Amino acid sequence: MSDLWSARFKKETDRLLKKFNSSISVDSKMYAEDIAGSKAHAAMLNEKGIISDPDLAAIRSGLDGIKADIDSGKLKIDPEAEDIHMFIEGELTKRIGEPGKRLHTARSRNDQVATDIRLYLKNRAAELKEKLYGMIEALYKTAEGATDAVMPGYTHLQRAQPVTMAHHMLAYAFMFIRDCTRLTDAVKRMDLSPLGSAALAGTTYDIDRHFTAEVLGFSGVVQNSMDGVSDRDFAAELAFTSSLIMTHLSRLAEEIILWCSWEFKFIELDDSFATGSSIMPQKKNPDVAELVRGKTGRVYGDLITLLTMLKGLPLAYNKDMQEDKEAVFDAIKTARDSLEIFAPMILTMKLRRDNMLLAAKRGFINATDMADYLTKKGMPFRTAYKITGELVAYAQDKGAGLEDLPLEELKEKCELFDTDVYEAIAVKNCLEKRVSEGGPSAAAVEKQLDAVKEFLDNV
Ligand code: ARG
Repeated sequence: MSDLWSARFKKETDRLLKKFNSSISVDSKMYAEDIAGSKAHAAMLNEKGIISDPDLAAIRSGLDGIKADIDSGKLKIDPEAEDIHMFIEGELTKRIGEPGKRLHTARSRNDQVATDIRLYLKNRAAELKEKLYGMIEALYKTAEGATDAVMPGYTHLQRAQPVTMAHHMLAYAFMFIRDCTRLTDAVKRMDLSPLGSAALAGTTYDIDRHFTAEVLGFSGVVQNSMDGVSDRDFAAELAFTSSLIMTHLSRLAEEIILWCSWEFKFIELDDSFATGSSIMPQKKNPDVAELVRGKTGRVYGDLITLLTMLKGLPLAYNKDMQEDKEAVFDAIKTARDSLEIFAPMILTMKLRRDNMLLAAKRGFINATDMADYLTKKGMPFRTAYKITGELVAYAQDKGAGLEDLPLEELKEKCELFDTDVYEAIAVKNCLEKRVSEGGPSAAAVEKQLDAVKEFLDNV
């Protein structure tokens, strides 16, 4: 019998079960964390007088050797092994003999895997956060250079009121800032050591869980051993955070795709971030944005995988939980890769300010401003709204904009109109008058830029 756990078995494991049961193809990614966890555990066992100094020394150098050999490619991780924990423990015993067999004292693979995955995800979350910073910076820089790039703001994808590309980009920057804080929050909850929970019910040894927690860089220990081995909330939280990042990216992706269509042409993607067609020579396609929009579905799938896997699971460890890693690793990696490519695509795109302005000048986006003009002259807003609405219909019939209607025609509708109305409804002025906090005027956008800069300066 070859398996470490096979003492009570009288028959070899079926070949199919071996293959089906193995998680090494996914959890081998955590070899460094597994070795770090084992070293910390061994140090603690020695500290508490459970293993001798020579045993600790042998385990340490054995594990260091394994780590170095995997790093360098000298030691290949056996794809047939059950999981990374078994592989490393088996390899250790192969290398150092008896002391290797003492490593698993007061430990189970259940607390071992729970520890490894938290350590691994802490690092992946840190990388994801770096990519979020890169994305926020790209949005910030684009916004900084576009505070006067007027474009229509939309509701229902209908031209609504004037904004600028800076205002639009900053809306996304704030979404990604929220994603950063969400990630920080999730990591804070995850940053507790389950090591020492053992299989589920702790151990009869006088271990020191705070010792291992500190060595491994956790901020504390999980309070309940059953929770320690059965909690995967952190995986679900990280998959959710990744999902929301993808939601935000896919909204922006959709806008990028629209904006570089001939129907909009608000932007031109850099040649290095666009693709062509094998048959249509004229094509320049926004594949990056489309792929990110498409990959959003798979990240949501990862989240649903995790939630469904955990739903109804009795305490404590169940093998179902082995399915956690593939899903959460994929969610984080997909979000990270998507952010990584999106940032330079945004940074290198060219704004077609002429088309943006043209679009802003059509579509009556100054209608609210005309109503506001009358309201400021004392008319109730609802009355002003009605008069302006009728003028919109009238102008549309004539194929004109509100600003093209001569004063006499305006006056026919309402005596309050005067020559200053044309100033009041000129698109540039409509924009600059939107000075309310959070609005699109250059002054209001400046404050938003400052807030984003402050966030970036303090990360
Ligand atoms: N490969 C397992 C996992 O990823 C490790 C824990 C197995 N524990 C057990 N008692 N079978 O979840």
